[in-house]
Amino acid sequence: MSFEFKHGFSLGVASAATQIEGGECGHNWNDWYHQGKIKDQSNPARATDHYNLWQQDADLMSEMKIQFYRLGIEWARICPNEGEVDESVIAHYREELSYLESKGISVLLTIHHFTNPMWFEKKGGFLKKENMQYFLDFVALVVQSFGDLVSEYITINEPNVYATISYFFGDWPPGEKSFGKAIQIMSNMSVCHIKAYQLIHRMREDMGYHNSRVSFANHVRVFEPADNKNPWHRICTKLSERFFQGAITEAMCTGVFKWPLSKNHEIAQGEYCDFIAINYYTRTAVTGFGDGTKQNAPTNDLGWEIYPEGIVRCSEKLYQVLKRPIYITENGTCDNEDSFRCKYIYEHLKAVAESSLPIERYYHWCFCDNFEWIEGESARFGLVHVNYETQERTIKNSGEFYSKVIAQGGVTDELYNQYVKPQEYHY
Ligand code: BGC
Repeated sequence: MSFEFKHGFSLGVASAATQIEGGECGHNWNDWYHQGKIKDQSNPARATDHYNLWQQDADLMSEMKIQFYRLGIEWARICPNEGEVDESVIAHYREELSYLESKGISVLLTIHHFTNPMWFEKKGGFLKKENMQYFLDFVALVVQSFGDLVSEYITINEPNVYATISYFFGDWPPGEKSFGKAIQIMSNMSVCHIKAYQLIHRMREDMGYHNSRVSFANHVRVFEPADNKNPWHRICTKLSERFFQGAITEAMCTGVFKWPLSKNHEIAQGEYCDFIAINYYTRTAVTGFGDGTKQNAPTNDLGWEIYPEGIVRCSEKLYQVLKRPIYITENGTCDNEDSFRCKYIYEHLKAVAESSLPIERYYHWCFCDNFEWIEGESARFGLVHVNYETQERTIKNSGEFYSKVIAQGGVTDELYNQYVKPQEYHY
């Protein structure tokens, strides 16, 4: 039951600006809330009030022995209007980043995580090629402002999820339902990532830093036919995989744009990730173009299948595209009662520890319960419980387990018996 991590492997936690900071910042999720689109009516302006409680959160992280932290910054807060920079916000983030450094917590900074300032959204966001420069200007501002404090960057979080949910299913802002637009977003975001990758390297080199590591966080899942004998399920599996993750992975990692993405003549074939960043959650049992779960499979509170081998299967696939060190930049589960999260963590980490792939990091999603997009406050993914009324944080049983796993560099029989053995999934 016990296992140890390999030398050089580290554990951390992840979060995203909009999901924790709170505030009316004039972004598309503030707007989506005002349009009444959040299922439980909870307001991202509340979230976990991290913008004010950041120091307390950093102290708690440090108390839990967490030394690696993936966090984001809010574009709309930094640039509230086109061409405007709020220097007090830059100063705020600098203070937070410096404090994390003083606590020995190493940062992986996400530049874009689903959220756009409304002024950018109103211009058509990433759908319009001519808007890309706004994003690249923001990337330049980020490096200029924080380049001395941060060497590791995620340019864009899950462009495929953003494109699919916001532009194909229409559940997230701006609520479009167009296959063509979703594909256009994927193409444009691939170009944005590659240009941002080059820009970050160039700017930090000019600043005298030669240790930059840049990637994008790639949401990958295992797609399998719900019924292997059904030809329609098999065809849809191939197509889903290609549309959702195959083509965009190739474009973002290597600059090769293939069907269904639009050809791009500006970008040269190359290698545009210094590490492979994987966000892994689940497997999809395919019956058509939507999500599905295998019959009798263990599931979380959102109905997503719990499938630990998938973390290694997806890593293997991406490693074939580009041979780079692997960071699991997100993995976690919605478990509102914290009744199976220890088991989930144990099984995913065991799969990682037993793999021969060069997996260097694992960031658990997420540190505190937070604003889970369209689900609002109703879906809890955190190692730390948040009482949204009082903003009180309480380390969960799983948080205690994770902290001990970090301290011990693996899972001992004793830890297994105490935290993992008593837990059960629902089926
Ligand atoms: C996203 C997170 C989200 C998590 C759980 C990932 O796709 O990057 O923002 O909270 O999944 O749904």
